[in-house]
Amino acid sequence: MIYPIVVYGDPVLRQRAKDIEKGSDITQLIADMHETMQAAHGIGLAAPQIGKSVRLFVVDATTLEPEEGEEDEAEDLSDFKKAFINPQIIEESGEPWAFEEGCLSIPNLRENVARKETVRIKYYNENWELKEEVYDGMKARIIQHEYDHIEGKLFIDYLSPFKKRLLKGKLADITKGKVNTDYRITIPK
Ligand code: NI
Repeated sequence: MIYPIVVYGDPVLRQRAKDIEKGSDITQLIADMHETMQAAHGIGLAAPQIGKSVRLFVVDATTLEPEEGEEDEAEDLSDFKKAFINPQIIEESGEPWAFEEGCLSIPNLRENVARKETVRIKYYNENWELKEEVYDGMKARIIQHEYDHIEGKLFIDYLSPFKKRLLKGKLADITKGKVNTDYRITIPK
């Protein structure tokens, strides 16, 4: 089932999401989130973005194409399709690097965000097996962005007050549903 995507202005995006009871059957929810993300051409989707305030996000960067001219040094993302349940970022390290991010909940807006290079994360996979792994580069960035969602944080929170003021009108339009997307959205009440 493809869910509509909750957009900027909906309070669910600002809540700290709750843990999922260990062992509960979320197979269908995970499958639906993957389907929703693919339909919207996203590379990550957190449960609050479909209106569910629980600590779960999915990622799929397997179809992400490297930028032109950067094919050689591009990291291998072909295996980066996963679900992170009740995740906990244990440590972030390394030099912050900037990259233009976007978000399905903030359509048609992309801005540079600096994030640390490496992340250590503990989480349950879809079989409720506890994992602890280290990611860096683009994988770390996707994880950090999605993790922020379950903490009630959005990438625009990192922008300067000046930049935020410039975007105010655009954000207000998104909240009113005055935005073009090729996927279904839920307009905040
Ligand atoms: Ni996002």
